[in-house]
Amino acid sequence: MNKARDWDQLERWDRSYYLHSTQAAAEHVYTAVESMDGNYFTLADGTRMLDFQSQLISDSMGHRHPAIHAELTRAMERYGHVQFGMAHEYRARAAKLIIEDVIGANSWAGRVRVFSSGTDAVECATNMARLYTGRSVILTQAHSFHGMVMGSTMMRGYRNNLTPDADRNTVRDVPGFPPHGYIPIPPPEPEDHAANGTLPSIVATEQIIQAIGPENIAGVITEPMLGGGGTFPHSAYMPALVGLARKYGFLWIDDEVITGFGRLGEWFGYQCWPGLTPDILAGGKGVNSCALPVGVVIASKQIADLFEKARWWSGSTWDGHPLVCATIVGNLEYMLANNIIQQVRQRGAYLKERLDALKPKHPSIGRISGRGLFQVIDLVNDKGTPIVPEDRFSAFTGDLGAHPNVIVYQETAKRGVYLGGFTPNTLKLGPPFTVTQDDIDLAVDALDAALDVVEAKYHKGAAKPH
Ligand SMILES: Cc1ncc(COP(=O)(O)O)c(C=O)c1O
Repeated sequence: MNKARDWDQLERWDRSYYLHSTQAAAEHVYTAVESMDGNYFTLADGTRMLDFQSQLISDSMGHRHPAIHAELTRAMERYGHVQFGMAHEYRARAAKLIIEDVIGANSWAGRVRVFSSGTDAVECATNMARLYTGRSVILTQAHSFHGMVMGSTMMRGYRNNLTPDADRNTVRDVPGFPPHGYIPIPPPEPEDHAANGTLPSIVATEQIIQAIGPENIAGVITEPMLGGGGTFPHSAYMPALVGLARKYGFLWIDDEVITGFGRLGEWFGYQCWPGLTPDILAGGKGVNSCALPVGVVIASKQIADLFEKARWWSGSTWDGHPLVCATIVGNLEYMLANNIIQQVRQRGAYLKERLDALKPKHPSIGRISGRGLFQVIDLVNDKGTPIVPEDRFSAFTGDLGAHPNVIVYQETAKRGVYLGGFTPNTLKLGPPFTVTQDDIDLAVDALDAALDVVEAKYHKGAAKPH
């Protein structure tokens, strides 16, 4: 236990006064972090943990990256807050880096704005789509996640709002859910979907478009790879969905808060499908490796042009904050100078190779999918079906301790690795881009042992873990 801090007192204050998310107070596991460094963090009791989830698939360059912190320190010598009506050095440098150096001056992208969260970016993107088209409806995928303020909450495609203390088997959705203006479309088929012909999700989506009337639709919002849900779509899905947007004349809003800035081994997820470019892109997390709260919206040249020529009453106190922009500059300059995208591809390939080698040994591995350093494992029971039947539509009711991802989280933690998932049957492996081969070996060995425990519970006749 670190003597510099009274963690017992801190825990009492945290438990008494902080408004926690996702876990009920009685279930809350107090995980005190003493410090963070590179690919690891240290708990209050001194345990060092490999962060194989980059916190929330977010801290892409690991914790306290020296290049990002150096730029932040320099910026702090000159700036605190500069309101958006004025300009400063870092806003210009961050915008130039994103539009010219990362995406390319001759590409689709016109302008960028910097916010303080991914949710802000998503809200701005959908408002822009509505203002640009003069239409109200946003199509949104089942199983998707877009953030936690009201608009993005209403867009998300899985449940889970409140499971009250009195009954852990009921779920209370936000009243009015699903709401006016956001229409759900089916989730993408997974990568290994076997049937031939047009994908069923696309057939159903086209029927929905025709039923609503395309003249009412502002845009469709997608995650290139569902982050919370953990689905990498079938290869035909994104081209077909964007094809529908083009055919019926509405916008494609590409939510890359989790996938953007390198996670999939491309700067952006949309680059997994050559020839596809979004109309509006929402980003966050990886743009500054979460050194400070961040979100970005990037508009195509055509869309940016309309807004830039208009008087557009929009903005937040935090827009383009100098310190946030400095962390973007530090992060992206380092990533560009050190060819980090290539590093993500190479380390992602090693991770995939190690996971593929686990598959023959572990009948609980139903599917491995993903790209770069975002690999997802779907766990199944001995009948080959999801262990928790609601799977990606889970409302997180009942005994969470029986969820396979929680079992894996607990077992890998015993071996010094932070690794788990969100929806109950999916494991999300999203280490920092700075992960080493030894780190990957440590994580996969811990996972190997954890899957023995899952199988002892859910696979009849499985050997007892030792
Ligand atoms: C795809 C996606 N969109 C939006 C968000 C919301 O971003 P933030 O948590 O920064 O508000 C997230 C967060 O995980 C996300 O994964």
